[in-house]
Amino acid sequence: MALLRKINQVLLFLLIVTLCVILYKKVHKGTVPKNDADDESETPEELEEEIPVVICAAAGRMGATMAAINSIYSNTDANILFYVVGLRNTLTRIRKWIEHSKLREINFKIVEFNPMVLKGKIRPDSSRPELLQPKVIYLDDDVIVQGDIQELYDTTLALGHAAAFSDDCDLPSAQDINRLVGLQNTYMGYLDYRKKAIKDLGISPSTCSFNPGVIVANMTEWKHQRITKQLEKWMQKNVEENLYSSSLGGGVATSPMLIVFHGKYSTINPLWHIRHLGWNPDARYSEHFLQEAKLLHWNGRHKPWDFPSVHNDLWESWFVPDPAGIFKLNHHS
Ligand SMILES: *[C@@H]1O[C@H](CO)[C@@H](O)[C@H](O)[C@H]1NC(C)=O
Repeated sequence: MALLRKINQVLLFLLIVTLCVILYKKVHKGTVPKNDADDESETPEELEEEIPVVICAAAGRMGATMAAINSIYSNTDANILFYVVGLRNTLTRIRKWIEHSKLREINFKIVEFNPMVLKGKIRPDSSRPELLQPKVIYLDDDVIVQGDIQELYDTTLALGHAAAFSDDCDLPSAQDINRLVGLQNTYMGYLDYRKKAIKDLGISPSTCSFNPGVIVANMTEWKHQRITKQLEKWMQKNVEENLYSSSLGGGVATSPMLIVFHGKYSTINPLWHIRHLGWNPDARYSEHFLQEAKLLHWNGRHKPWDFPSVHNDLWESWFVPDPAGIFKLNHHS
């Protein structure tokens, strides 16, 4: 379980890097043909309709990814292109699950993630699909979307912001649950303020943190600001100096993101990231509130396909059975 979680955390971070690599080529090439595109004003408008959604499919919890995809696809008329990211040994299974289930109608591309890319040992695969849009949605696998994803995609990013996240001080009811489950919602919970490198950042420890489980990113800015490089730097520094507070289950990616995006991110509508559903199996949101929510996130240890967990009925209605019969729900009730 712990190992599994670690693998997923690493996947998340790698994924963010992958995103950037995917886009890199596009931006690179994109600057030249841009003038051509001006002449044929019809083509770019058609392309504008496609919403890229990036999601990981990790071996032990592929059922989560499929449920999330199903919920997104079923609740929108928009044209979604799913980028499903997996390690080499999972790709066949991902494809089979999609093509042999009700998901066969979706538009998707499978992105092989090779961890060696990160180490700079190999060059990124040139056959990797490229993003057509500079704007991208990233979602953790343990989410269910109840609203129309177009709304999330339409989130306005301020000029110069590379990403939008959910602020941890956003909803009063979210703060109630933070208290209930004993969560910290400030930088203090993620960074070790005894370390010089952290103090030198000059970030107040009482600054509200944000949750990178739902991201709307502007990849043009992402590249322009060299976000991936910065994240890598802070990952590396953490290995050397142990800068991050490990008390929270934020994963390896949260703390570097908090540093890199401090003071320069836009916020998404709070209802688009109702979270901590997996934090405490005894803490429940009101049914009414959950109905209003556009996106539910079971971050924390208690996943809705496992036992014990809460509000798993909301997750299970989107479950897509595994055609290979490997992934099973684990509910004792
Ligand atoms: C993304 O960033 C670029 C560069 O700042 C900007 O020109 C563009 O309008 C932004 N796109 C969106 C959708 O915010």
